[in-house]
Amino acid sequence: MSMSSFWEPYLELQTELESVSQLMAKQIHLRNKEIEAALLDSIYSGGKMVRPAYTLLFSKFGDNQQADRTLALAAAVELLHTATLIHDDIVDDSPLRRGNPSIQSKYGKDVAVYAGDYLFTVCFRLLSTYADTQEQVEINSRGMERILMGELDQMYLRYNKRMSIRNYLTQISGKTAQLFALACYSGALNGGQTEKFSRNSFYIGSHIGMAFQIIDDILDYSQTSDVFGKPVLEDVRQGVYTAPLIFALKKDNNRLRELIDKETLMTDEDAREVRKLVVELGGLEQAKQLATKYTQKALKRIEQLPEKQEKNQIKQITLALLNRGV
Ligand code: IPE
Ligand code: IPE
Ligand code: MG
Ligand code: MG
Repeated sequence: MSMSSFWEPYLELQTELESVSQLMAKQIHLRNKEIEAALLDSIYSGGKMVRPAYTLLFSKFGDNQQADRTLALAAAVELLHTATLIHDDIVDDSPLRRGNPSIQSKYGKDVAVYAGDYLFTVCFRLLSTYADTQEQVEINSRGMERILMGELDQMYLRYNKRMSIRNYLTQISGKTAQLFALACYSGALNGGQTEKFSRNSFYIGSHIGMAFQIIDDILDYSQTSDVFGKPVLEDVRQGVYTAPLIFALKKDNNRLRELIDKETLMTDEDAREVRKLVVELGGLEQAKQLATKYTQKALKRIEQLPEKQEKNQIKQITLALLNRGV
């Protein structure tokens, strides 16, 4: 599922997302042309652009349509996301992102830290230029803070064998769902909708984000790296114990735990055995059920939105994300 094919059925949205990418690219100016090129590459290398898509869609429900400002907000959300991915790849020592060598593997961790930081500053520059209220900036910095808290939770719980589904849900709510919630909320508010409507959009985004991360965590066990565009079978090796593994561990006789206990000494073969056991013990199925539950919660609230073309699109996209392969 490349970005273009995913958005193909939604021509108008697709065009707007192209404008979002262009706006992001237009803000990148560095004296170091190599890093500038790397950042431009990452912008054009086929990120799915899911979060800005929701910002754009939710902005259409109000009566204050200001295209420039909406595009800027959507770009800010995607810049924040891209920056966290660049940093995430440093933490995970990951060689691959969006099918290309990650910035950290190509230029080293130092450059990747600065490249990610730079995108954060670009994000806030955009916000302060286009946002007409201080509130927009505040909302984004609060969102950023919650993402960081989720990342810190995750770091703190690495290799924790007592990791529970509850811990997991708290973690992904911070590191992923918050940004989806923010994307929907700020779209709605900026489009001229009420605080009440925007709150509802926030919860929709949050549920969508939970499902989105659970599916990403399933794909880490079930997808190939070629298709996924990033390494697979990595979470367990990094000590990030996600829903498929946590569910499988509950049914485990002991072998899975034995493998997990190897921590950083886990070999490729061990990791493949982990995958096999996670599948056999029903971990992927149970995780998919959990993701479905969050998608249903989102759909229930989406159902209450006023009848509009965008309502149907939000519904379709949310369902398609549950069944995605990348
Ligand atoms: C990856 O997000 C990180 C998660 C929160 C799972 P995406 O799957 O949206 O990454 P890109 O932007 O399409 O590469
Ligand atoms: C998303 O989670 C990380 C952030 C929110 C920055 P993952 O750790 O699952 O992301 P991928 O799988 O590397 O894209
Ligand atoms: Mg990662
Ligand atoms: Mg992942």
